[in-house]
Amino acid sequence: MASAHFNHRKYQPVEPVTGFTRTWPDRQVTAAPMWASVDLRDGNQALLEPMNVAQKQRLWHLLVKLGIKEIEVGFPSASQPDYDFTRWLIEENQIPDDVRIQVLVQAREELIAKTFEALKGVKQAVIHVYNSTSRVQRERVFGMDREQIKSIAVQGATWVRQYAEQYPETEWTFEYSPESFTSTEVEYAVEVCEAVMDVWQPTPEQRCILNLPTTVEVGPPNHFADQVEYFCQHLSRRDCAIISVHTHNDRGGAVASAELALMAGADRVEGTLLGNGERTGNMDIVTLAINLYSQGIDPQLDLSNPDEIIQTCTECTGLPIHPRHPWIGELVYTAFSGSHQDAIRKSLKQQQTDEHWQVAYLPIDPADLGRDYQAVIRVNSQSGKGGMTFLLERDFGISLPRWMQLELAPVVQSTTEQQGGEIDSQTIHDLLIKHFVQDKTPISLNGYRIERSNAAETLSADISIEGENICIEGDGKGAMAAFINAWQSRTGLSIHVVDYAEHAMGEGSDVAAAAYVQLNIDGQRVGGMAVDADTVSASLKAVVSGLNRSGKVAELSKQTQACSA
Ligand code: KIV
Ligand code: ZN
Repeated sequence: MASAHFNHRKYQPVEPVTGFTRTWPDRQVTAAPMWASVDLRDGNQALLEPMNVAQKQRLWHLLVKLGIKEIEVGFPSASQPDYDFTRWLIEENQIPDDVRIQVLVQAREELIAKTFEALKGVKQAVIHVYNSTSRVQRERVFGMDREQIKSIAVQGATWVRQYAEQYPETEWTFEYSPESFTSTEVEYAVEVCEAVMDVWQPTPEQRCILNLPTTVEVGPPNHFADQVEYFCQHLSRRDCAIISVHTHNDRGGAVASAELALMAGADRVEGTLLGNGERTGNMDIVTLAINLYSQGIDPQLDLSNPDEIIQTCTECTGLPIHPRHPWIGELVYTAFSGSHQDAIRKSLKQQQTDEHWQVAYLPIDPADLGRDYQAVIRVNSQSGKGGMTFLLERDFGISLPRWMQLELAPVVQSTTEQQGGEIDSQTIHDLLIKHFVQDKTPISLNGYRIERSNAAETLSADISIEGENICIEGDGKGAMAAFINAWQSRTGLSIHVVDYAEHAMGEGSDVAAAAYVQLNIDGQRVGGMAVDADTVSASLKAVVSGLNRSGKVAELSKQTQACSA
């Protein structure tokens, strides 16, 4: 039974948006929106310790470098550091020609006056004015009716227009936000915005920005998309306004809300890098941009170096990033699960450079974000054969046959279980060698000679068994068959090759070949492996490894025999 205070009956669902025909579910986003960063304002306002000027400057440089063209730099009428930062940008000529700064201000004359003063001399800027319009704010916070709240917006818009006229050297863009839009009756939000537009008289050539915030995310993303589409359909001068959305993450849906809002007709998105912002944060620009990128859309932002974004943001905000943060967290391209590793390994092997990306469990190529495959597959006790096989191949050029993968996997797993945590590729390699490469003792191969005739090969091999030298000889089709025959006649055991594989190793190492053999010795299967200078000696030594691992052969072979020259 639920406890008394945990009571869902306290809440009610959002009211469906009705009276219009929704079309957004059938639409697709095909181009990047206009991006606007609110890191230096909304993000900054949400910090326990707001950024100092140096931190703001550092974040500013990053935002510009990423290619964001509209950047809300602060609330200069409410904060001296924001005022000083705005002046620094203007007086020190820090704003590139293709970037517009934006500042936020409430609909109050003295604050609007101070805001214009802070912007004196700027070439172009967005003045962003807002007031809250939701029913709960009207009734419970301001004690005002719809008309009174609308007149705050109209008055604010009027002051903005009048003060802008006093600074004609600047190219102004006006932005209005019906704050708490998601909890505002949507037809009333349209009414307020129409009234603001009546004051500003925007044109298709000089549009204003109407910014629809999920100040608090109170409903699912499809509901927000309905609100946005309703708004777009009912705005009488749609072509004179840029419709912007500004989503927060209270329900964890800030990115989804923005994405659906783009389908519903929004042109512009406000957000922050990595989603810093009030409460659960603002919409994460990096996530949305890479969402679009993963759909084959140019995000119009350079996100090729997320490590730089992470470092700058975390150092400026003092907030860490989760290792599983979408697209760029430390662990997001790492697979521990064996079946995932196997699927990744197989898909990567088949991926061609000139085809669309088709790799299981990796929705994008980690290399695009400056991540290499080093981190993709890591091995712990959850991993099966896929991960260790991948690491051996990648780091040592060793391609294990399947039967050997199956035999090695439990060895690796029991080591990870004993030591806990992750196991690196060197340790896996050491386990492989310890387990399968036993070509020195008790039997070792010191040398061999091969004579070829038409039908077969004759192989004479110099062998040491626990320090005792013998020579064995056999015929067969190929060196290995001759070697096996030599051991059969030497020991009287039945020895067959069940499986055999060999491959050349990477360049630049002193061992050029690896060989893997699975023998059946008197009904017992046993595997052996060796690496050596060439495939013939690797294969003979792999047989020796198998013989040694079987434990049966050495004793039976201990009698000297002279070799024919
Ligand atoms: O979240 C919000 O509503 C805001 C407004 C000022 C746009 O930040
Ligand atoms: Zn906000």
